Amino acid sequence: MDDIIQFIRQLYGEPEAFIPLHAPVFTGREKEYLSHCIDTTFVSSVGEYVTRFEEMTRDFTGAKRAVAVVNGTCGLTAALELVGVGHGDRVLTQGLTFVATANAISNTGAIPVFIDSDPDTLGMSPKALEVWLDAHPEEIPHIKACVPVHILGHACRIREICNVCKRHGIPVVEDAAEGLGSFLDGRHLGTFGKLGVLSYNGNKTITTGGGGMILAGDEELGGHVKHMTATAKVPHRWEFRHDAVAWNYRMPNINAALGCAQMEKLDEILADKRAVAAAYRDFFASVDGIDYVDAPQGCLSNYWLNTVLFEDRKQRDEFLARSNDAGVMTRPLWALMADLPMYANHENDGLKNARDLAERAVNLPSGPRLKP
Ligand SMILES: Cc1ncc(COP(=O)(O)O)c(C=O)c1O
Repeated sequence: MDDIIQFIRQLYGEPEAFIPLHAPVFTGREKEYLSHCIDTTFVSSVGEYVTRFEEMTRDFTGAKRAVAVVNGTCGLTAALELVGVGHGDRVLTQGLTFVATANAISNTGAIPVFIDSDPDTLGMSPKALEVWLDAHPEEIPHIKACVPVHILGHACRIREICNVCKRHGIPVVEDAAEGLGSFLDGRHLGTFGKLGVLSYNGNKTITTGGGGMILAGDEELGGHVKHMTATAKVPHRWEFRHDAVAWNYRMPNINAALGCAQMEKLDEILADKRAVAAAYRDFFASVDGIDYVDAPQGCLSNYWLNTVLFEDRKQRDEFLARSNDAGVMTRPLWALMADLPMYANHENDGLKNARDLAERAVNLPSGPRLKP
């Protein structure tokens, strides 16, 4: 295990200093754009950087419309409400995810149901989804959305999931919070479902401090997302007329300014993250008993967090202790949603693969190594 720690220290060129899991890098025009916000007083909910950040993201992802919001959690909640999810409905998602996915569903008043993952993608298994739907025909009318998650930057079997959902008339909202810069067969994650959501939290591939983006594949729906995530104001130069109860989840201009500067560096950041991933892949190819979790076939991953699987929980825990003691930050995957107190009584399908992955996986330092 010490050779792994040493390898990570070499990879990051840090023989002694603490190595974080994923720290942001500000090597572009971040300070200039932030100063511009302050100098012009446009620090709040409208401003040129919001529009620019949305357009840059739309063009990069190929979505028809991208709408910037305060964070990924609110983005998911809004997206779910906009596809028709409401109080008492059921929403299918996966048991292995960050808690924000389940919270976003709960915040609409709906009840999450937890489906198992595929061992290779770590994301929702379309087979398990189909099995659950076939076994619960009486529940289908109450299911108002499905939220598959692209875990750690790798694509889940999103096409197959969309096909299963289509057969049952269930809209798909993709949780692509971790997926900026990841593609499946050339198509950006978050653009397969009716809506998709990205996150720009401080630990993500790029950051806006806090922030999220809702991706829409259809102009009209995208326009509605923009309207509802603001104040539902009917455009007029001075009159205050609003035509719906809206959320004001708008991303402030000051955060979007950071986002524009980060987007200008995205290609460099992704290239370096992919080089880090290639180094891990090569290194673990010759390590017995530890499997590197590579991108599934057809997926050009952002390798948000490189991940390895140990043989069992005991070995995993030993490595977590050794690496963190040595100042190399590593983390297990999240506890399964079904093991958290607020979701323990919710339906799940047994989560066999998800439990196995959660017990054996470790995330390794994966941040870009760009220097100012
Ligand atoms: C899978 C997943 N879903 C949702 C979120 C929520 O995003 P945010 O932190 O921007 O609210 C995150 C990240 O934090 C995430 O990793």
